[in-house]
Order: sequence, then structure tokens, then C-alpha cells
Amino acid sequence: MTRRVRIAPSVLSADLIRLAEQVAAVEEAGADWIHVDVMDGRFVPNLTFGAGLVAALHRITKLPLDVHLMVVEPERYIAPFAEAGAAVFTFHPEATVHVQRQLVAVRERGMQAGLALNPASPLWLVEDVVDDLDLLLIMSVNPGFGGQAYWPAATDKIRRARQLLDARRSQAALEVDGGITRDTARTVCAAGADTLVAGSAIFCADDPGRAVRELRQAGYPEA
Ligand code: DX5
Ligand code: ZN
Repeated sequence: MTRRVRIAPSVLSADLIRLAEQVAAVEEAGADWIHVDVMDGRFVPNLTFGAGLVAALHRITKLPLDVHLMVVEPERYIAPFAEAGAAVFTFHPEATVHVQRQLVAVRERGMQAGLALNPASPLWLVEDVVDDLDLLLIMSVNPGFGGQAYWPAATDKIRRARQLLDARRSQAALEVDGGITRDTARTVCAAGADTLVAGSAIFCADDPGRAVRELRQAGYPEA
């Protein structure tokens, strides 16, 4: 089987004035998902987008919208993002009490359910809900801002996450977010990641389309 890494450009680093053009460029270059970072100024010290942007993106791209909620009480946003056309709804287990109930609610609304772990959050936070997961996101920076350096200890955590998913025969995607460049793409894919979020490496490049192709090539050079 030929492995193929999934590339999810994060519009956090896009030029918002030229968003439609930039999304079209990465779609044309073969990006798989569009990653949308939702921040509420409480769970993380920054404010970004809401369901309105997801609805607008849904009108201009066929790519699945991979929504990453860095918000407290993510359950409040399941319905609005489902209605806006989100394909993946990923939240942080540290941000809510009844995590398993919310994962079920996300799937009931027709979205894929994801959990994201901050650098300091242990893998065992998700161990008991692996069957409820369509995606596990390992943060390789502390969330809140684009353009930060990759946290090296993420590599071992990705390896352990891959072992956990395989041991449980889970088909969940293993996504990595933060500081992904051509170099770190190679490292995280070798550790078992199959989905790469990249913001600045794509949208701060001279040619975002070429950056998508280069990341894919770096991820699984043999593919
Ligand atoms: C960080 C966000 C990321 C961000 C990554 O809090 O979750 O998705 O866009 O940006 P880069 O790829 O520049 O580290
Ligand atoms: Zn993100």
C-alpha cells in the first residue's frame, strides 16, 4: 500500500485579503484539507475566526474543512460549525468536562470527531475514548499563534500515539500541528503521523502551492 500524507494548510497564516485566491492555490496544488484555527481569547491568548469564516470557505472550496477549536466549552460550537459545513471538529479535552459525550455529539452532527493534546497534556487523556475518535491531533507547539518552532518532544509523543491507535486497531487520523516544515515533516511522518497541518511553511512561502508539494514529498519521500 502506498502511504500518502494528508496536507492541511492552516489559513491562520494566509493573507486574509487574498484568502480565496490562496485557498484556490493550495487546492490546485493537491492540499487535502483546509485547517481553520478557532481561538476564543480564553483557552489561548489570541482571537481568530468563527463559524462565519467556515461557511464562507465552504462556498469557495470542495476541500474538507478541518476545524481546530482552541476554545473553552467547545460543546457550544458543535451545532454552528456543523451548519457552517465543517468536516472535522477537533477540540481540546482540557477545555470541557464531558469529553466522551461531546465526541458522540460531534459525530451525530455528521462531522468527524477529533481531540487535540497540548504539549503538556498526556496521551492517557484520550486512551479511554479511542473508539470515539476519528482524529487525534498532537500539538507540537503551545497553541495560540502560527510561526512557532517545533517542540522536539512531540516526536516521541507521536510515536506513542501511533502505537496506541494501532494497538486499538483505530483508523483515526494522526495529525500534527505546529512548526511543521520540510525537516519536521519528515520527522513526524517517520514517527507515524499521517496528517500535517502547516501554516507559515505554506502561506509565508513565495509559492504556497509549491510548498504543499514539497511538504508532501518530505513527509513520505518514497510515495
Ligand atoms: C497554532 C495553530 C496552528 C498554526 C500552525 O495554535 O493550531 O494550526 O496555524 O502554524 P505553523 O504551521 O506556522 O506553526
Ligand atoms: Zn491548528
